[in-house]
Amino acid sequence: MTSTRTARADNLLTDNPELYEARFPDPVRLAGRWTEDCLRRHGAGPRVLDVGCGTGRDAAHLHGAGRRVTGADLSEAMLAHARTHHPGPDYVSADLHGFDLGQGVFDALVCLDSALLYCHTNDQLDGFLSSCRRALTAGGLLVAEMRNGAYFLGRTDLLGTPTAGEFAWRGTVHRSTTTLTVDRAAQLLRRTRVWTAGDGSEPVEQRSAWRLLFPQELRRLLTAHGFEVLELHDGPGPRTEPPWREGLLPGRTADADRLHVVARLTGTATAPS
Ligand SMILES: C[S@@+](CC[C@H](N)C(=O)[O-])C[C@H]1O[C@@H](n2cnc3c(N)ncnc32)[C@H](O)[C@@H]1O
Repeated sequence: MTSTRTARADNLLTDNPELYEARFPDPVRLAGRWTEDCLRRHGAGPRVLDVGCGTGRDAAHLHGAGRRVTGADLSEAMLAHARTHHPGPDYVSADLHGFDLGQGVFDALVCLDSALLYCHTNDQLDGFLSSCRRALTAGGLLVAEMRNGAYFLGRTDLLGTPTAGEFAWRGTVHRSTTTLTVDRAAQLLRRTRVWTAGDGSEPVEQRSAWRLLFPQELRRLLTAHGFEVLELHDGPGPRTEPPWREGLLPGRTADADRLHVVARLTGTATAPS
């Protein structure tokens, strides 16, 4: 019999890294390869920090490409998984809202799959960019890939109606019902997802939210923190349809549901640090 009770979990997927990789497979390391391509095209040096590194698979890919990589995340479960399953990089605990891993010690900082959007408030965004500025050497690169807030201007196809999904992991079918809503005043995309597993366990409700950042807002923020925006576009990228492949160059539009940014630390910040 199915229970009607629902257990709360902060984030089922980040608490279960293996489940995360099963739910969001990237067998050909598209995200890592896209990132390495950005780093190479803009001549980044070898020292890379992957903030919000998750399971470590992108950090390990960059390590395999010859870079000296540090992966940072706030989830101990993710860090433990990364150390065991994606060795090579150093893995450290750090909060992307404000971290200090040394001054001028990285040539590039990467932040993939909307990790940056866990900065919900303006203060958290300032904290993140100030930390990036401290961590990067002069001329260092910031490469980030995330949802595009602008996609939700005038489009409601992803909102309101619950969508069902399912996938099998270790012989158990996991089903999810996901509802996305927009909190306009806070500029947050809120997600409620209820998981049920075919093993008779209690349903789990997970709530999370992402900041809805708009392309021009991101440009303004980066400039205020001393970055020059080199690329800002909606694809091709590792999570676009069709996806990025070797040799494809960045597009010129910023309208679709993913946003990709490459920026170089060149100047003085006018924003709070
Ligand atoms: C959607 S996952 C992306 C993981 C990885 N970058 C990838 O592309 O597979 C977001 C990651 O951000 C981490 N995260 C969320 N809030 C964070 C914070 N305040 N500081 C550091 N990491 C955070 C989560 O633990 C999770 O691993």
